[in-house]
Amino acid sequence: MSANEEAIRAWDGPLFDRFVQFRHLLTDGLGAHGSRALRLAAPQPGERVLDVGCGFGLTTRRLAELTGPSGEAVGVDVAPRFIEAAQSETCVESPGNVRFAVADVEAGLEDGSFDLAFSQMGTMFFANPVAALRNVRRALVPGGRLAIVVWRAKAENDWVYRTQEITERFVTKPEEYDEPTCGPGPFSMGNADTTSGILLSAGFEEVSLTRCDLPIMIGTDLEEAVNFAMSLGPAGEILRLAGERAAHLHGDVAVALRQGLGEWQRDAGIFAPASTWIVRARVPDEASAA
Ligand SMILES: C[S@@+](CC[C@H](N)C(=O)[O-])C[C@H]1O[C@@H](n2cnc3c(N)ncnc32)[C@H](O)[C@@H]1O
Repeated sequence: MSANEEAIRAWDGPLFDRFVQFRHLLTDGLGAHGSRALRLAAPQPGERVLDVGCGFGLTTRRLAELTGPSGEAVGVDVAPRFIEAAQSETCVESPGNVRFAVADVEAGLEDGSFDLAFSQMGTMFFANPVAALRNVRRALVPGGRLAIVVWRAKAENDWVYRTQEITERFVTKPEEYDEPTCGPGPFSMGNADTTSGILLSAGFEEVSLTRCDLPIMIGTDLEEAVNFAMSLGPAGEILRLAGERAAHLHGDVAVALRQGLGEWQRDAGIFAPASTWIVRARVPDEASAA
């Protein structure tokens, strides 16, 4: 199985299930950073916009509102279950100019002549990011814009860094496992030089990164934050891959996490430090055919 096929299995399987379970946290958490990126991306009425790795399609619908009836927003995702969910939630109140399609961005994209490609945390999981982003570039018109939100380095994201550090006191990632993983992973674009290099190699120009520091809610209460930490992100990944071998340690991990995350408690829930790059780039006016 290729690295990309494994990532597809992970996204359409265990990760989809966890995204459904913690959707309220992920939607608000990712959404805060995504809203900042949407403002910087500034979709204009009449524009055609591609939403890469659209998940449940919330940002796609927002993009469709912003481009208005003369524009269009197309959400693509490699996981059929995310696209089925996005389509089934498209109702009469949804903008009429939104559509969704299953697509592996790394394998290729319809030539959409898009004016803008947007992505909220959907570009960090490609086995070959240069090939995938080259496909995105080719789907854009000459002069088209790219605006993507990606996590900065793990150490700058205490919401996962601390939970991983606590979990690793009890269990470490096994060297061999049967479960699929999501490829390079959420922090693969955290390094500014690596990310700008990927985009330049993919044929973009005028790459800029804007740092965005906004706390995210990881639980409405401490129990939920512990459950979330043990289900998603690096700590959840370690426990998932360790499987039954680590099941007897879950109680100890939960106790330690409860202590470690308590200081982030606020009236409305548990809010942890989180940091992203909002990466913008442009297609050259005369796009090369490379
Ligand atoms: C962290 S989720 C973000 C989802 C959504 N953008 C959001 O903000 O809620 C990453 C998404 O990227 C999708 N994805 C991963 N690899 C992909 C690929 N090669 N082509 C298209 N989508 C991909 C996953 O299926 C998943 O829905």
